[in-house]
Amino acid sequence: MKSTLFLNIIFAILFVIGINAQNVTLSNEEDMKNYLSVENIERDIAYNGGRLLDVYYDKQDTMTPKPVVIHIYGGSWVSGSKIQYTKFGSLLESEGYVAVLPNYILFPNGSIEDMVEDVYNAIQWTYNNISKYGGNPNLISLSAHSAGAHVSALTIVKAALNLPNNNVTLQNLPQLDKVVLMNGPYVFDQEFLYYTLQGTTDTSNTTATSDKQQQAILQKLMLTYYGNAEISPIEILKEYEDNSIYNNFNVNKFVFFYTSLDNVVPESSSKNLIAQINRTSNVQYEYVYIEGIEHASLVRGVRGGDVEYENMYIELLRK
Ligand SMILES: *[C@@H]1O[C@H](CO)[C@@H](O)[C@H](O)[C@H]1NC(C)=O
Ligand SMILES: *[C@@H]1O[C@H](CO)[C@@H](O)[C@H](O)[C@H]1NC(C)=O
Ligand SMILES: *[C@@H]1O[C@H](CO)[C@@H](O)[C@H](O)[C@H]1NC(C)=O
Ligand SMILES: *[C@@H]1O[C@H](CO)[C@@H](O)[C@H](O)[C@H]1NC(C)=O
Ligand SMILES: *[C@@H]1O[C@H](CO)[C@@H](O)[C@H](O)[C@H]1NC(C)=O
Ligand SMILES: *[C@@H]1O[C@H](CO)[C@@H](O)[C@H](O)[C@H]1NC(C)=O
Repeated sequence: MKSTLFLNIIFAILFVIGINAQNVTLSNEEDMKNYLSVENIERDIAYNGGRLLDVYYDKQDTMTPKPVVIHIYGGSWVSGSKIQYTKFGSLLESEGYVAVLPNYILFPNGSIEDMVEDVYNAIQWTYNNISKYGGNPNLISLSAHSAGAHVSALTIVKAALNLPNNNVTLQNLPQLDKVVLMNGPYVFDQEFLYYTLQGTTDTSNTTATSDKQQQAILQKLMLTYYGNAEISPIEILKEYEDNSIYNNFNVNKFVFFYTSLDNVVPESSSKNLIAQINRTSNVQYEYVYIEGIEHASLVRGVRGGDVEYENMYIELLRK
């Protein structure tokens, strides 16, 4: 049930109390310094028209085919840039992968369908072009966090079901090996809103975004998409019969990652998507639940070069 009044009240409260700031982001200068210090990279390759991606790869060895990881960062659909996630790219490259970090369009410049279009094209670009960088096109995995996990799951589900997106019928994507979805919100419903609201009042830490202007845009996004089944992979799958998705989403294995102190996204979001994926297909999946860390701890850890979190992330890809 869509209640605009209810939403307005929630957002008025959110806006007034302000979402408590968390130091997730490094300074812009620090991000840029990290980004520019990387040598094993090709920057700003165009895909899907004007969108850009970076490829992190071993320039000394492009002959041995290596597994590939595409990483789709989070940022509440309203923020984020590949430059902030350099550490993901360089970590993956040092672990023997070829990494692809695409930018994708953000709200309100683009809709969620536009974001899906970007992720869909980034995966296809990778399949068609990655061998030049020593990547094995038949061994592509994808990892994604938060809003990025939502857009990625939506892309994979819509492509596997050949659903329309921006009036284009999506085709099956190339087979992906692992799809690692971390702390993703897969439905915009009351539970998600209440959870996010509560998370801002009960503890001091995690938040979707602490920037006031971004919060206002995020509110607009929530009002635009609240209760919209077409942008929820959970709701889309509810329309399909048990074991009816024979292509298993063109994925070898899903790895769902959730953390006990996530106060931005409820656990039910991952649980409900797992249940629908498992009910409608026979794809392999694993649920990894980690105690004692927050919504963005892993991302913060990898960005900060913390070995414990680096290992946690790499292990997810090796599940
Ligand atoms: C947040 O990060 C910035 C940049 O790294 C740093 O200067 C600042 O002291 C941090 N603030 C807090 C409250 O930790
Ligand atoms: C939207 O597009 C404008 C113009 O290209 C750009 O300056 C702005 O940063 C974009 N906003 C977001 C949130 O990406
Ligand atoms: C990527 O692959 C496609 C399809 O083979 C090709 O048309 C395109 O030119 C390639 N892009 C780059 C940047 O090499
Ligand atoms: C899709 O097609 C419908 C009907 O032709 C049109 O009204 C709508 O604007 C189109 N949407 C997009 C995103 O192109
Ligand atoms: C908030 O984050 C800091 C730094 O990441 C952490 O040490 C602290 O335990 C967190 N506080 C809560 C209440 O989760
Ligand atoms: C997954 O599906 C199997 C058989 O279809 C069922 O036994 C199992 O309980 C399901 N797991 C979840 C988490 O729904």
